[in-house]
Amino acid sequence: MPRKTPLAVILVAITATQSLASGDPAKGEKLFNRCTSCHAIIRNNEVLVKGGITGPNLYDVVGRVAGTENDYRYGGPRLPVGMFTDDMIRAGDQGLVWTTENIAAYSRDPIGFIRTFLADDTARPNMSVKLKKGADDIAAYLATFSAP
Ligand code: HEC
Repeated sequence: MPRKTPLAVILVAITATQSLASGDPAKGEKLFNRCTSCHAIIRNNEVLVKGGITGPNLYDVVGRVAGTENDYRYGGPRLPVGMFTDDMIRAGDQGLVWTTENIAAYSRDPIGFIRTFLADDTARPNMSVKLKKGADDIAAYLATFSAP
């Protein structure tokens, strides 16, 4: 049986993280090579930052509901099939919207972050990178590709 975390506990944890986060986008740009093996940044078919197709396009990711990037969800010119895991789609269905704060937390421990969000210790999202340093800076850099 998965252990359930009360919603109030999650909300307090999210608020606490938000007040601490502050990243430097210029530093994040240099560190983004940690992500480009799997992620590109593409605006309307224009490749702004080259990257692999293993992960979803990160253009406009801040403010986006998790698991909804169209090509990566349903397939498209770059991807023959939809690739989001059921757990990432479930997180979006349950209200996960990406912010600089939670992208930083997710980048430090993707599986742990999604398990905590879903209150489901069996969840298995498909990103195994664990960033030790610079997550806030990378998140701030990604925000420069998102509408304010
Ligand atoms: C080894 C490949 C790989 C690397 C490297 C990687 N990711 Fe990912 N990322 C993925 C995959 C695969 C997913 C989709 C996960 C799922 O569906 O469970 C993903 C999903 C995401 C999402 C959610 C996107 C959405 O639309 O819901 C964000 C945000 C993200 N990654 C940020 C990063 C950042 C920041 C880095 C660099 C620190 C990074 N990733 C490095 C493979 C990777």
